[in-house]
Amino acid sequence: MAGAAETPAAARVSHVYPHGSRLNERGRLEIGGCDVIELAEEFGTPAYVYAEDDIRSRAREFQDAFRRRTDRFEVVYASKAFPCTAVYRLLAEEGLSCDVASGGELFLALRGGFDPKKIYLHGNNKSVAEIRYALDAGVGTIVIDSFDELERLEEMAPGQRVMLRVTPGIKPDTHAYISTGQEDSKFGFGVEEVPRAIDRIDRLELVGLHAHIGSQVFQLDPYEKLAEVLTAVGDYPLLNLGGGLGIAYTADQEPPSIDAYVESLLRGAPEGVTVLCEPGRSLVGNAGVTIYRVGTVKEIPNVRTYVAVDGGMSDNLRPMLYNARYEAEIADRFGGASLCTVAGKHCESGDILVEDVLLDDPRPGDVLVTPATGAYGHAMANNYNGIPRPPVIFCRDGDARVVVRRDTYEDLAARDAV
Ligand SMILES: Cc1ncc(COP(=O)(O)O)c(C=O)c1O
Repeated sequence: MAGAAETPAAARVSHVYPHGSRLNERGRLEIGGCDVIELAEEFGTPAYVYAEDDIRSRAREFQDAFRRRTDRFEVVYASKAFPCTAVYRLLAEEGLSCDVASGGELFLALRGGFDPKKIYLHGNNKSVAEIRYALDAGVGTIVIDSFDELERLEEMAPGQRVMLRVTPGIKPDTHAYISTGQEDSKFGFGVEEVPRAIDRIDRLELVGLHAHIGSQVFQLDPYEKLAEVLTAVGDYPLLNLGGGLGIAYTADQEPPSIDAYVESLLRGAPEGVTVLCEPGRSLVGNAGVTIYRVGTVKEIPNVRTYVAVDGGMSDNLRPMLYNARYEAEIADRFGGASLCTVAGKHCESGDILVEDVLLDDPRPGDVLVTPATGAYGHAMANNYNGIPRPPVIFCRDGDARVVVRRDTYEDLAARDAV
């Protein structure tokens, strides 16, 4: 990444930023052909800014990677990563299937135009109302997570297509909170329990097994192993190997390519089986950035310089939740040598977005950008401290449109019954 002073011509930015991003001739970050300084003026800050074509191209990359090797596959968007009508619509247009983890996500997926037959309903504790909603909507497949749920579905949904979620006893090298495949997990049936669950199925149509070993995974061998473990459990037409492919949050991270990931999914799967995968983060994570406005710069001599922005843990919970590491830049002065800590505006000392990052002499009024916030940013946004949640802006070929508007103060009181 070049500093603005050395950037008379347009310059590239790292792979952490959305496809097609660059520093334009004025040294300003451009996403989807839109100058983010202008976006900040037009739409305000904080805001989630996405390059729409980035999401489309990654969706195509997944499908092409499978298509080159097999016609038996399904790419299922794990919509918890970024559930909003616009992205459901976009990925439905791209021909993907979709997984939902609640009635609310199901509502949005249907609103976005997903064919209910291409929807997979997940969850370790689906309510009766959620199951009823899925059945009424004609949801294609329900992924059963427990014996209690199996009994419930036997009663409620004779003939329903189902899969069984298996905890395969594989623990990838990732944060414990996003590691789900190990035996000690609230999700799914342990491998030794699966035969009993299969025996219990009487009126449901069991089409396959499902497992998700965790998220932000950089090694590929656990996926090969996973296909082998599930195949050993039984022969079914569908094998869903979950999501989890990691992404680069910082420029030094090099996750495996989508192509290599798909290759490893298929390597462990037997001939003739349809392989499903459920990418969330790897479809949308690098497609989005968050833009903020710097409000204060507090220098504590010999200790630390806090650069406070107009958002924080209400728009990006991941640093607090998982110690997740992000990058930051001043959007029109990339590079720099001032060691800073980017803090949010919430009443929590732990409300730190990026610790120890080099910025170019940040000052109040600057637009600051954190890349790779496209997954689990908007999805986990909250109103802590009565902060209105940011809008979502889709950019394409130099045009920007609001696909989720900013909360208003009135929205904060919309559910108050007095
Ligand atoms: C069942 C299931 N599938 C897919 C995913 C998506 O994972 P990722 O966003 O890491 O691809 C998750 C994430 O929690 C999940 O629980």
